[in-house]
Amino acid sequence: MSDNSVGKRKRVLSGVQPSGNLTVGNYVGALRQWAREQYNFESFFCVVDLHAITVPYDPLALREKTREVAALYLACGIDPEVSTVFVQSHVSAHAELTWLLNGITPLGWLNRMTQFKDKSAKQQVDSVSMGLLDYPVLMAADILLYQADAVPVGEDQKQHLELTRDIAQRFNHLFGDTFTIPDPMIPPTGARIMGLDNPTAKMSKSETGSEYHAVYLLDPPNRARKKVMRAVTDSGREIRFSRDPERAGVNNLLELYEALTAQSREDIEQQFDGKGYGDLKKAVAEAVVDMLGPIQQRYEDLTRDSSYIDNLLARGAERANEVASATLKTVRERMGFLEPLR
Ligand code: TRP
Repeated sequence: MSDNSVGKRKRVLSGVQPSGNLTVGNYVGALRQWAREQYNFESFFCVVDLHAITVPYDPLALREKTREVAALYLACGIDPEVSTVFVQSHVSAHAELTWLLNGITPLGWLNRMTQFKDKSAKQQVDSVSMGLLDYPVLMAADILLYQADAVPVGEDQKQHLELTRDIAQRFNHLFGDTFTIPDPMIPPTGARIMGLDNPTAKMSKSETGSEYHAVYLLDPPNRARKKVMRAVTDSGREIRFSRDPERAGVNNLLELYEALTAQSREDIEQQFDGKGYGDLKKAVAEAVVDMLGPIQQRYEDLTRDSSYIDNLLARGAERANEVASATLKTVRERMGFLEPLR
């Protein structure tokens, strides 16, 4: 049962793991959209640190990245007075609901998840963690605790969202209407930026194979420029939007340019008519640097005093906890747990 009554704004929830470095792709495909949409929805944005421990990681880096990702949310335009920004592990209901949902989630559903298959294939069979398999149940808990109506996620998370819907439906069927069934909110095409070194794979913040894979939001201007100038293209010379896989590199640069300048495709093709790939790369590099400038300035302002972000996250957790603990209470009752005397 949704707790949204008529006239109330719909709810969205999304999150990013505090692993790797946030990229230009994360900005164009996620953070920028969240910031734009936050006025139309009641929004919850969390830093999903509990998800980040499902693969080997460094505890010091986890703590640092958790603050960094939260500060980058704000630097990219998420307003903590408008949206609730918090850290997943600060709200213990996430871990608790995961366990409760584990009880009704068939193992077969988890074994089918393609992300699990891909990620576990990269590790030794015996060292793959239980957490990696259970990752989608934790994600379902994140979403269902807030009765989210919509979840902005990339194409790669669609299967996890379908699983979330299946778990919610199963729960509602077994124990009575409790959870809102969330819809995915997949960003428009052109919002999916591909790797600069390999334009057939999505730009990833945790890809460490090549130094020239992604522009990070905190890259200094010269690094950012250099990465764009090194982007893989092809041996042709025509600068046109194209779905030809052979021309994916140039197309990716054009889509990035389109996303950053908000010009029409005709205008962009016109602008580069008769020009070379070098000219395109220079223009994209400058557009990227122009985009990064204000974000990095805000990031510096926000992190000058380290207690600022921590205080803000404490307030966010309090607000998130109000919503999450109400849902959890209902879940416990419906599932038949004895309430402790108070
Ligand atoms: N699994 C998501 C990703 O890798 C991150 C995530 C965790 C998430 N919990 C979420 C996204 C809840 C949306 C809603 O992108």
